[in-house]
Amino acid sequence: MADIGAIVREIAEEMAAAPDRGRVADYIAPLAAIDPGKFGIAVIEADGTCHAAGDADEPFSIQSICKVFTLTMALGKVGDALWQRVGREPSGSAFNSIVQLETEAGIPRNPFINAGAIVVSDVLLGGLEPREVLGEFLRFMRSLTGDDTIVMDEIVARAEQATGFRNAALANYMKAFGNLTNPVDRVLGVYIHQCAVAMSCRQLALAGRFLMARGRNPATGGGVVSPGRARRINALMMTCGHYDGSGEFAFRVGLPGKSGVGGGILAVAPGRASICAWAPGLNERGNSQLGSVALERLAQRTGWSVFDPVGG
Ligand code: DON
Repeated sequence: MADIGAIVREIAEEMAAAPDRGRVADYIAPLAAIDPGKFGIAVIEADGTCHAAGDADEPFSIQSICKVFTLTMALGKVGDALWQRVGREPSGSAFNSIVQLETEAGIPRNPFINAGAIVVSDVLLGGLEPREVLGEFLRFMRSLTGDDTIVMDEIVARAEQATGFRNAALANYMKAFGNLTNPVDRVLGVYIHQCAVAMSCRQLALAGRFLMARGRNPATGGGVVSPGRARRINALMMTCGHYDGSGEFAFRVGLPGKSGVGGGILAVAPGRASICAWAPGLNERGNSQLGSVALERLAQRTGWSVFDPVGG
């Protein structure tokens, strides 16, 4: 049996010393100020044992990792009707790309690219007020983690609101195709604030537990989603969670994962562990450079892979 605690500590030491750390996102100003020397990792096993190392308790901007949880909420709200408005195919394009929307009638390829997550925010908004939806989202994250200290970072939200011209373009374009029901500014306000939630590796690993445990929160036994839905969310994370780097992540790590430009990656080893790694520097595809390396080493050393049922 692998000593998971020792592996986690070893990886944190290796990552602290790694020379090639990528580049922090600078299109959202407060993210550009984050120290690229940071590295954190948290691994929560199926029995609840948590192994954490490095900066695992430091909150960072979850950014696109929120899309896993907003998708979960939207499926809870409208079920499979969601798939009439969002696809389930990898895009092979950058996370903020607009090109496919033109030829695909304003239907985003999947719920994890920005366009898809903006439609998901529109679904969550329904006829509610933005602050009600954001309250629901925070309550969901707090209940998954059992941690009421989780909050939104208003400074990050305001910065993105001031410079989010690409997201505004995506939203307006989809609105023109009739794929947004609410006013564009309200939908973007919801989307941007969901991305601006700050959480630590430990908190994100706690939040992801239902995805390793057939839809149940293993700490409470409470059902979050059905086993089939957990399987499908994991499938989407595997195929679309790293945008045009999803194939590479599946090849190197072999686990469902979702990245964010804050440098976090949530990964799931079904039946085994919920994992979050954080290193702010990104690779050329906008995914955490050292977060990917750390998860690759974790998967190799534990034997965890969805392609190897006898691993570990
Ligand atoms: O909409 C954006 O551009 C950001 N709020 C989120 C993008 C993101 O995290 C992409 N991830 N790698």
